[in-house]
Amino acid sequence: MQTLFNFVKSSFIKRSLRQQQKFALTDLTQWGLSINPQGHISVNNTDVTDLISHHGSPLLVVNRNQLIKDANSIHNATKQTGADAKVVYSYKTNCIPGILNEIHGTGIGAEVISPYELWLAEQLNVPGEKIVFNGVNKTDESITRAIERDILAINIDSLSEIDRIVSAARRLNRKARVGVRLGFVPKAQFGLEIESGEAMEACRRIKQHSKWLELNMIHFCAVSNAKNASAHCRFAEKSLKFIHALKAHTGMTIRYLDIGGGIGVPTSHSMTNLEYGLYRLFGSLPKPPDPNAFEDIYTFTGRIGKTVHDTSARLGIEKPSLIVEPGRFVTSRCEFLLSTVLSIKEKTNGTKFAITDAGRHSLTFPCEFEHHTIFTADQGRQRKKEPYNLMGRICTAGDFVMKNVLLPHLHEGDVLVTMDAGAYFSSFSTNFAFPRPAIIMVSDDGTVQRLRHAETFQHLTAMDTTLHEQHPPLQAQLFQTALSSSSPSS
Ligand SMILES: Cc1ncc(COP(=O)(O)O)c(C=O)c1O
Repeated sequence: MQTLFNFVKSSFIKRSLRQQQKFALTDLTQWGLSINPQGHISVNNTDVTDLISHHGSPLLVVNRNQLIKDANSIHNATKQTGADAKVVYSYKTNCIPGILNEIHGTGIGAEVISPYELWLAEQLNVPGEKIVFNGVNKTDESITRAIERDILAINIDSLSEIDRIVSAARRLNRKARVGVRLGFVPKAQFGLEIESGEAMEACRRIKQHSKWLELNMIHFCAVSNAKNASAHCRFAEKSLKFIHALKAHTGMTIRYLDIGGGIGVPTSHSMTNLEYGLYRLFGSLPKPPDPNAFEDIYTFTGRIGKTVHDTSARLGIEKPSLIVEPGRFVTSRCEFLLSTVLSIKEKTNGTKFAITDAGRHSLTFPCEFEHHTIFTADQGRQRKKEPYNLMGRICTAGDFVMKNVLLPHLHEGDVLVTMDAGAYFSSFSTNFAFPRPAIIMVSDDGTVQRLRHAETFQHLTAMDTTLHEQHPPLQAQLFQTALSSSSPSS
């Protein structure tokens, strides 16, 4: 039995390695990067190996050019569907203020899901008109703040939320702009279902409280990492049918249709259930993404705009303007993670492990079911390619970056570049046993701006109540050690 399993496993791995060889994404311009005369990957003419020697390893690097390019393209593509259309960036995807500032500079607003994110949008001076507040449960304090700021919509996720918003509006003597989130995915906890009548009931109750509530939008977010607009169009059509029924039953009209996020990027993709199962069972990575399989963003939003236009005309309802809440599309491609190979081990069965200073705490749960391209920073040296299990250093067998990834023969000290690190990397990262890395941004003239310092040991214990009181000298010593080892140039 074991022999059969091993035979099947090695067949799948061999097939995966052939596919990695044949379909690897090698064109660095897809991420706005290039190779310098030394043969190293460079961002805006800055050698990534220099970045790591100046700012420490591991290191998250934002390519400002690419960030602005992707933000502008989705903003313009959405605006082409109508002058009142809006883009609000999903804060949870990458909540670094220096990155959010750049995104807001292009005219994009904020999609927030927690009191913290709402507070942060306020700190970054995002006007209420450009804020959408989602989430399965909103605190009374955050509802109050959202009404005070007159945000574009608090999207209602459950019937009981209506009473809480009404109470807050009454207390403030101000009207709240709200939306209703439709729940299209039965296995997910979000939203109110059309079929059960809950969504219509929510709208009726909003109408009953029209002194305090204004129904501004219908919202859904039911797709993830989509290669084309088909699923968004399908859900948009269902939402419009609901808006039509709503008009017939209550006379209410809707200004905005919020289609959530879920627009994929051509350089990384989610594994299918089958691919994920095979990867977990055999360690066989699926085929790299095919950028040609992804719809360009203007076609993507254009198709949704056309569906909304045509369906509204057919149903005889006012055409709502689109709201899009992209996360991944705006920040995935512009950021990469630099890490260093610390040691190499080869087991008697031939498995090669490369221990790196990045691991599950930096490439968190998304990487488990997403395909991310990994390069060696040094692209110049011709080296035979070999499969590696890239591991972290937190002492659990589950601490892998990627299994059986085909890379040039590795040496200790090699710098690795993990692409598409700007969606759900830093926001999900943990400081499990190691402080989190610094985040820097490189501008088009090569200027480096530090967006976040690397954490120190002191940060890891900052909220503990005993260490500082009992061991102040030890604390000071740890802090010094951390400073000298984690960020030489800070
Ligand atoms: C309500 C909502 N909007 C937007 C997004 C952003 O999704 P993506 O990063 O796939 O664009 C999410 C992600 O889960 C979400 O839950």
